[in-house]
Amino acid sequence: MKKILFAFVVVGSIVACAPKLVTPVSVTEEVTETTEPAPEMNDIASAGKVIFNNDCTKCHSLKVIGNHSKQQWTGILTKMTKMAKLDETQTNQVTQYVFWELEQ
Ligand code: HEC
Repeated sequence: MKKILFAFVVVGSIVACAPKLVTPVSVTEEVTETTEPAPEMNDIASAGKVIFNNDCTKCHSLKVIGNHSKQQWTGILTKMTKMAKLDETQTNQVTQYVFWELEQ
């Protein structure tokens, strides 16, 4: 009986806590919390913006970031950062910039 009661209390407290833990965590908040507390662009994204405006306009006009979803951009960037011959650091910077823009 003690065990059953204990299990009930444990389950009960998980259920009681769950909405508090789950509801405020949206994708946007998760990213802003881990990368930058304020909604301003961080240094990595700022560097990415410069690359995006310079290197990504060599073959075509400036692409509108909002025209593609985050998922689409992941695929596009894999391809385009190679086309633009970006190194690992630059690729990371452009990726951060694109993802930052998508959250605005
Ligand atoms: C060497 C030339 C070249 C460079 C540099 C380049 N692109 Fe492209 N990009 C292309 C070509 C060609 C296409 C169209 C054909 C294709 O989708 O492969 C394209 C298409 C795109 C598209 C449209 C994709 C779609 O599915 O509609 C996006 C967005 C894009 N590029 C973003 C970028 C970004 C961001 C960069 C910088 C990291 C970049 N491009 C650099 C040549 C380039």
